[in-house]
Amino acid sequence: MPLLYTQNLRREFGGVIAVADVDIEIFKDSITGLIGPNGAGKTTLFNTITGLDFPTSGHVFFKGEDITELPAYKITRSGIARTFQNIRLFKDMTVFENVMIGRHFRGNNPKIVKNKFLNFILGRIYVKKEEKDIYENSIKWLNFFNLLDMRDEYAKNLPYGKQRELEIARALATEPEILFLDEPAAGMNPQETDSLMKTIKRIRDLGITVVLIEHDMKLVMNICDKIIVLNYGKKIAEGTPSQVQNNKDVIEAYLGKTDD
Ligand SMILES: Nc1ncnc2c1ncn2[C@@H]1O[C@H](COP(=O)(O)OP(=O)(O)OP(=O)(O)O)[C@@H](O)[C@H]1O
Ligand SMILES: [Mg+2]
Repeated sequence: MPLLYTQNLRREFGGVIAVADVDIEIFKDSITGLIGPNGAGKTTLFNTITGLDFPTSGHVFFKGEDITELPAYKITRSGIARTFQNIRLFKDMTVFENVMIGRHFRGNNPKIVKNKFLNFILGRIYVKKEEKDIYENSIKWLNFFNLLDMRDEYAKNLPYGKQRELEIARALATEPEILFLDEPAAGMNPQETDSLMKTIKRIRDLGITVVLIEHDMKLVMNICDKIIVLNYGKKIAEGTPSQVQNNKDVIEAYLGKTDD
């Protein structure tokens, strides 16, 4: 069974059908690419899966459970994380604080007992343990991205490529099973993109399933096990990179229809 799948997922905005009854299947430990021309519905599909937006109709299943109506924070806690097409960091907070916030979103609430005094003591112990967990977890992810030296720098002062990585670090700090990346290489130079490709593979090797929207075809073709293609909200193709590259409908969607 796929780790995550959608059934007839649809999102309309007035007369615009941004996502048109799309079925996708994401298998555990894979890297899946989602491509398509501008306005094809890629981000909207991510939004309806990750709870940032609700579908007009259809369903999303994760680990066998219907998560379609869950609010975003519950979806995060269930093990789904994402980044955004336009970087959404807390720019006036440090690198370290940005990652700690990610971990905080994952938090579970302490068990409440009836005895007030005991509750107080348990709460204190819980907070201490929670602080330690958050600290250690954040260090782990900063290390993974080689950002430890920059931990006290304001997020806004990082080079653009590093900001994109920091956003991924923050998403990973929620300890997801599946990570959705919306154009992670946008604005990166070729060296940064190369390093990102390796990083995405390292993330997958940790047992985290990756789904990414990307316009950089070199990146997509190099690292994806499977590629799904959207055009005008519809899924028009899916398959291995070479299958998709040679697909007539995909070539037409990108280059326009030719007569011969
Ligand atoms: N909040 C909204 N209100 C109205 N229309 C929207 C909204 N969000 C998206 N759309 C429309 O839905 C369609 C799909 O947009 P979406 O942003 O999902 O495309 P995309 O594939 O991510 O494009 P890009 O590659 O440019 O990021 C577009 O026609 C867009 O104008
Ligand atoms: Mg988009």
